[in-house]
Amino acid sequence: MTKPTDLMSKIMSLCKRRGYIFQSSEIYGGIGGFWDYGPLGVELKRNLKDAWWRDMVTAHDDTTAPDGAPAPYGMVGLDSSIIMHPQVWKVVGHYDVFHDMMVDCRTCKARFRADQVPDSECPRKPSKHPGEHGECDLTEPREFNLMFKTNVGALYDPSSEAFLRPETAQGIFVNYRNVLDTARVKVPFGIAQIGKSFRNEITPRNYTFRSREFEQMEIEFFCHPDQSQQWYAYWRDQRFAWYTSLGLQSSRLRLRDHSPEELSHYSCGTADIEYAFPFLQEGDFGELEGVAHRGDFDLKSHMEGKLVRQGDGFVLELDADGNPRYAGSGKDMSYLDDQTKERYIPHVVEPSAGADRAALAFLCEAYTEDMVPDNKGDLQARTVLKLHPRLAPFKVAVFPLVKRAGMPEVARDIYRELKRHWNVYYDEGGSVGRRYRRQDESGTPFCVTVDGQTLDDNTVTVRDRDTTQQDRVAIADLVSFVRERIERA
Ligand code: GAP
Repeated sequence: MTKPTDLMSKIMSLCKRRGYIFQSSEIYGGIGGFWDYGPLGVELKRNLKDAWWRDMVTAHDDTTAPDGAPAPYGMVGLDSSIIMHPQVWKVVGHYDVFHDMMVDCRTCKARFRADQVPDSECPRKPSKHPGEHGECDLTEPREFNLMFKTNVGALYDPSSEAFLRPETAQGIFVNYRNVLDTARVKVPFGIAQIGKSFRNEITPRNYTFRSREFEQMEIEFFCHPDQSQQWYAYWRDQRFAWYTSLGLQSSRLRLRDHSPEELSHYSCGTADIEYAFPFLQEGDFGELEGVAHRGDFDLKSHMEGKLVRQGDGFVLELDADGNPRYAGSGKDMSYLDDQTKERYIPHVVEPSAGADRAALAFLCEAYTEDMVPDNKGDLQARTVLKLHPRLAPFKVAVFPLVKRAGMPEVARDIYRELKRHWNVYYDEGGSVGRRYRRQDESGTPFCVTVDGQTLDDNTVTVRDRDTTQQDRVAIADLVSFVRERIERA
């Protein structure tokens, strides 16, 4: 059986070889925690984000309660800026509490996350854990804020300090009033956003899993406080089902409730959707998405100022003079129900997913080694990416069997026709067996081959990536055949 670490090395090697993922600035030796998506990777990630946007926003039916939902609800989208007013991060607590505890080695200048010291490696040789070499001189754990700082405008002083957003969520909260006033939405409703977030992680690790620049797909769902637990339960199940609908096996996925000590400062309940990534030890899972019940923490903070926990609730944090430590906007974030005439601050359920982690999970899940017969019927080992057709970078590849006898011309016509519907790849180089193998590794679900018979009866073969079974299909039926197979997947 392949060891988890060997499997991960194979997946990373395929991702490099086929142009899925490259190290950022690789020609200069790379930069830790940053990754680039190559020609196939960018298509996979785009398809993933499009599937999320379609399933969560544009295909959502605002008029009917989906299975498991307490009521019908509206969904709208948003694209807010990455750099926001610095007060945003002060009132919601990221400025004060968004940090990891870190430990520095005064001798070798290496930096470790305090909770990861026992699993980290000291850069000195022979390989040991930090603190185990005689010369190691570790500091006490110290706070390290994860937000990247920058300066806005010509002045480079504290008054111009700003931050790259560490989550897309706050862009939604600060626009809640704008959306309410312009989009004709009524509570319950959700605002969805996809975008880049940045965290200066102390120890980026496990390939793209913990990066310093990554993309999030977040929904802030606004509901009546009395219904918030039902909505929380709905979103946990709904989001779990989304991953399985795109091919993640539920045996490698799990929903895990946070213990009270693990909860973020804003959360009164969080469940993580986790995946058994191959770089983890057997039985361990890594977070793909958090579904959090944030209560009215964010809207209230933006209204009143930075809050601190007191008992079961939150109160305004005051400075030594009795003024708010960080003042809110003073804008009214309450909602008036025009039917019941009740005015309240909505509670929020937040499904917050990472596009890069999801892409990595789908790649890990899809990676398969199997044996398939070649054209002589002999079994050959192959590597195949069994990506869901909605996610696959190319849906179809088109080949002429040989580069003569009019086959390339027919194949190119088919390629152009299919390209009107999907991303399609044309290949006439090498034996057809090698072309199949290239597409298997790239994750292309269907290969169409133009052969001698095509010239007689206008039919082609369509090979299924996963079963390698071939069907003979009339060129005139090809689009509907492929469409039906994609939709059936
Ligand atoms: N707004 C809530 C929030 O940001 P989070 O659990 O910190 O919650 C949500 O992040 C998701 O963003 C995670 O489940 C993960 O998929 C992704 N994510 C967070 N940090 C990441 C990192 N350093 N690299 C890649 N993805 C990350």
